[in-house]
Amino acid sequence: MSTTMFLSCLYVLLAAQSINIIPQPQKVEMKKGFFVLNEKTSIYFNDQQLKSLANYTSATIKSFNKLQLHVKSRNGTKSNAKSINLILDPKINTAKEGYALSVSSKEISIKANTSHGLFLGVQSLFQLIPINGDRKVPSLLIEDEPRFAWRGLLLDVSRHFFTIDEVKHLIDQMATYKFNLLQLHLTDDQGWRLEIKSYPELTKIGAWRVPRTGLWWERECPQEGEEATYGGFYTQEEIKDLIKYAAKYYINILPEIDVPGHSLSAIAAYPYLSSSGLKYNVNPGCQFYGIDDNSLCAGKESTYEFLNIVFTEVAELFPFEYIHIGGDECYKGFWKKCEDCQKRMKDNGLKDVNELQSYFIKRLEKMLKEKGKKLMGWDEILEGGLAPNASVMSWRGMKGGIAAAKANHHVVMSPNGFAYLDLYQGDPAIEPPAYSMLRLNTVYAFEPVPVGVDSSFILGGQGNLWTESVPTFRQAEYMLWPRSFALAEVLWSPKQSRNWTDFIRRTEEHLQRLSKADINYARSFYDAIIIPSKDEKGNLLIQLSTEIEGLEIYYTFDNTYPDHYSPLYKKEEKLAIPKDADTFRVITYRDGKQIGRIITILIADLAKRVK
Ligand code: ACM
Repeated sequence: MSTTMFLSCLYVLLAAQSINIIPQPQKVEMKKGFFVLNEKTSIYFNDQQLKSLANYTSATIKSFNKLQLHVKSRNGTKSNAKSINLILDPKINTAKEGYALSVSSKEISIKANTSHGLFLGVQSLFQLIPINGDRKVPSLLIEDEPRFAWRGLLLDVSRHFFTIDEVKHLIDQMATYKFNLLQLHLTDDQGWRLEIKSYPELTKIGAWRVPRTGLWWERECPQEGEEATYGGFYTQEEIKDLIKYAAKYYINILPEIDVPGHSLSAIAAYPYLSSSGLKYNVNPGCQFYGIDDNSLCAGKESTYEFLNIVFTEVAELFPFEYIHIGGDECYKGFWKKCEDCQKRMKDNGLKDVNELQSYFIKRLEKMLKEKGKKLMGWDEILEGGLAPNASVMSWRGMKGGIAAAKANHHVVMSPNGFAYLDLYQGDPAIEPPAYSMLRLNTVYAFEPVPVGVDSSFILGGQGNLWTESVPTFRQAEYMLWPRSFALAEVLWSPKQSRNWTDFIRRTEEHLQRLSKADINYARSFYDAIIIPSKDEKGNLLIQLSTEIEGLEIYYTFDNTYPDHYSPLYKKEEKLAIPKDADTFRVITYRDGKQIGRIITILIADLAKRVK
């Protein structure tokens, strides 16, 4: 690289660092100067279909900058001076969802060949407007388009119920970061959340469970005569309203009806749906696997008749091209003992219960096709043979997705090791309960296209928020942000533009935006990471690190709270445990101020963490 090229790259890089867009746009060229917003700035739109976008732009700017900008219509594709111009131009060569945003001291213009592109350009513009009340927007040129068409989040509304208003709130937040798909996990053992007019008991019984708090899977099962008072469901009218709302934000809603496993709420409502036919209650989070018959019977024809009617209503309600049928973690123990299942297997030459599940999914695929829909399922649908046109959502790592893509099926990557937002994001000693660890930097390292796989089969990726341990919407936000910033960038931005240090710089600015909007988020990436190990004699040793650069770590073994007067950890040092010390505490600072939380952990518990 020549010196001039190097310097010009450096200039672009340095200049680009003064803006804070998440996800990082494809191409940014910084210019000199600013556009200054003021009361006389108008928002012009050149096509009637942009009127609501222009009004939304004005309302949003007003909400965070207290500036009332007037909305005006005009013809043609030229920009007006001293204005923000939203220009729909079918002739402009932007990619699907792409846009061009230019800011000069004279005007701001956003151009795209679809209103969707313009909407996404407007999101970038919002992020260029400072949050400190300053009204200067830096001059620049942005040309942007997504890396992936499928940029999803999943919200599990079964394990805990979230209201339509809360889901709308999530949609607002998703739009800011250019997500375009929300999967609603509408059914599971712990609640059926969608009105099905032909089967009213699904929501009359299936949407309700006995109230419990405390650790999921360790709760008491429903007791005789206990009233089921926790739950809720969405009426079809509410769903229509939600879909309309999401469409204004260019977000598709993907419904998931999880079958044949995870179906206890349906079985509680209609016991004939299971192999055992036993009467069960909706599960409140008590241990059940293999004890309750929570799988739909794959033998009886009545199961398929039920599903055909359920999916008819679902297909009529949700306009999105896909329906997600779940297909994960189906316990098949009852199928082995079920006469109807055994007969079905014999009649169809199926050699085991995996092939029976495959038969079940293939019938569903045909059923959905007749209703004009495509089938998406979790990677277990590969077991026993994949249905001809099924698409796969890979969650048990990437291998299911790789196998499906190699067999020319479409894939959405949502591997638990990179995209499961229900997992811990910081030390388990101070985080709410979860299954395993998924720190922010791991999410940022997610690469949806594995080596050797034809990328045209990878539709994109998705972050999944399962809500066993997420009882409130505030907690959902805590789990979502900032890890979903990382996902947004993974799914939108070019792979080569990933830069952890710069991502954290932008993340810190965006956390201020969330604070201002009263949206909850986690600060766990500021905490210390504790790495215990044992030496060859079996003595416990502690190493410390942090996810981000530039933090100081202080610690104590003496049962006092650490601060900047406590011992300072030296990088890569291995701390021995002082004799009789029972508790370890650690804290992080930046520039002389506390930034991370205190983590307190018993030495005995640390020792247990060493494998
Ligand atoms: C899943 O996490 N069982 C899809």
